[in-house]
Amino acid sequence: MSSKELLDLLNAAIARELQVSIQYMWQHVQWKGVKGFAVSDELKKIAITEMKHAEMIAERLNYLGGTPTTQPDPINVGETLKEMIEQDVKDEEKAIKLYKQIIQKARDLAT
Ligand SMILES: [Fe+2]
Repeated sequence: MSSKELLDLLNAAIARELQVSIQYMWQHVQWKGVKGFAVSDELKKIAITEMKHAEMIAERLNYLGGTPTTQPDPINVGETLKEMIEQDVKDEEKAIKLYKQIIQKARDLAT
């Protein structure tokens, strides 16, 4: 495994952090109904947290000699709150998979 592969994985992580940051923020903006009202503030907080994740990973990528992507992965806001939350769960499951992969690659490089 080359360090190039690790940089590419970190950029994949940045693309998805940018995606979910915009996705959560637009879900915050476009919420509907009583249940939407209940989670609206939380969606905004999560959106900001996700942008901070993008920033942290970009700092590390830059430190390692890479250039952070400006392109988010495809954004799926959803129409109903159910659609929004189901999409977010899918995206978070993808994130867990990707970050496990990155941890493993970084360990392989260190040994
Ligand atoms: Fe994140």
